Amino acid sequence: QELQMNLEQIEKGGYEHFMLKEIYEQPNVIKDTYRGRLLANKGIVQMAGIEDNIEKFLNAERIIIVACGTSWHAGLVAEYIFEEFARIPVEVEYASEFRYRNPIINPKDVVIAISQSGETADTLAAIKLAKEKGAFVFGVCNVVGSSISRETHAGAYTHAGPEIGVASTKAFTTQITILTMISLRLAKAKGTMSNSDFHRYLQELEAIPEKVAEALATNDIAKTIASIYKDAPNCLYLGRGYNFPVALEGALKLKEISYIHAEGYPAAEMKHGPIALIDEKMPVIVIAPKQGHYDKVVSNIQEIKSRSGKIIAVVTKGDTQVKKLADHVIEIPDTAEALTPLLTTIPLQLLSYHIAVMRGCNVDQPRNLAKSVTVE
Ligand code: G6P
Repeated sequence: QELQMNLEQIEKGGYEHFMLKEIYEQPNVIKDTYRGRLLANKGIVQMAGIEDNIEKFLNAERIIIVACGTSWHAGLVAEYIFEEFARIPVEVEYASEFRYRNPIINPKDVVIAISQSGETADTLAAIKLAKEKGAFVFGVCNVVGSSISRETHAGAYTHAGPEIGVASTKAFTTQITILTMISLRLAKAKGTMSNSDFHRYLQELEAIPEKVAEALATNDIAKTIASIYKDAPNCLYLGRGYNFPVALEGALKLKEISYIHAEGYPAAEMKHGPIALIDEKMPVIVIAPKQGHYDKVVSNIQEIKSRSGKIIAVVTKGDTQVKKLADHVIEIPDTAEALTPLLTTIPLQLLSYHIAVMRGCNVDQPRNLAKSVTVE
């Protein structure tokens, strides 16, 4: 028993929980994800699984992404990126809905299955169905040799290393990294992105690990904010564009490990319902980086403030406008708009982590949840 305990301590590498260790691993694992695949100075982005099947992607009339949970959120971020960079229409589906819906799948569809474990039963069933209907199926998995990686025609591993904490963290950011690389590769091949943008994105992506490390320095402020709001019964997360899925993911993290009811919403949808919930007891986490609908998000913040909601804003370093309105701001480094999810998500992970710890919850093994769900 004692030996077991010691082993676990060693595996946690000095961190109190696996989740925290995995949050802090992100700068390194993102590098592992792009190592040998992204060579910014040479203007190269390549992945064997894509190179070998490039025609399939270039001829794709549509990309259908199937996934569950956090991986589904990574798929939503990818939808924005693929459509913007490579101009390919994308649909993102819950694997569990897709498989039971008699979906329309054509041989010219490319299906991308995203799964950390590679064992999620619904995702596995969805790709079997897509294969039967003649689609080309590509896997984005973390676990090497997993069922989904074997069942797909081709794929690219995220190389995030073992993720032990049930709440997914480094799997999410590495999935986004790989999907961004795929989008860039296709954008280049299709000529849907200017050369200068292409090179700028390669450089920005290569610099992301350092910026993630900087974003991790928000830990202290996240802890302070956690101590103020840990007893809130509800919490709202808002974001737009690339950061709408990050709002969903932030809310999922909070509910998974702290059992606080949380909802993520596209900021502009607030007026169609959630605004009714806002009062002085409601913390609202607003993702408001300087690019992408900034002014609109600022007016959402004003609306929350005029209803006495408590505002916790994630902003770009140097922001002045939101600072004047928000109760708390968390600053993250500047980057290209499409890459902001890789940074904005970091303080949200930390915030959930600290709230869960302060509430005495079992962070690594939250009640009722499993790391991989191999039953439907
Ligand atoms: C479970 C886990 C989540 C995960 C989801 C999908 O619900 O608790 O963290 O996002 O499954 O898992 P996958 O391994 O397919 O990414």
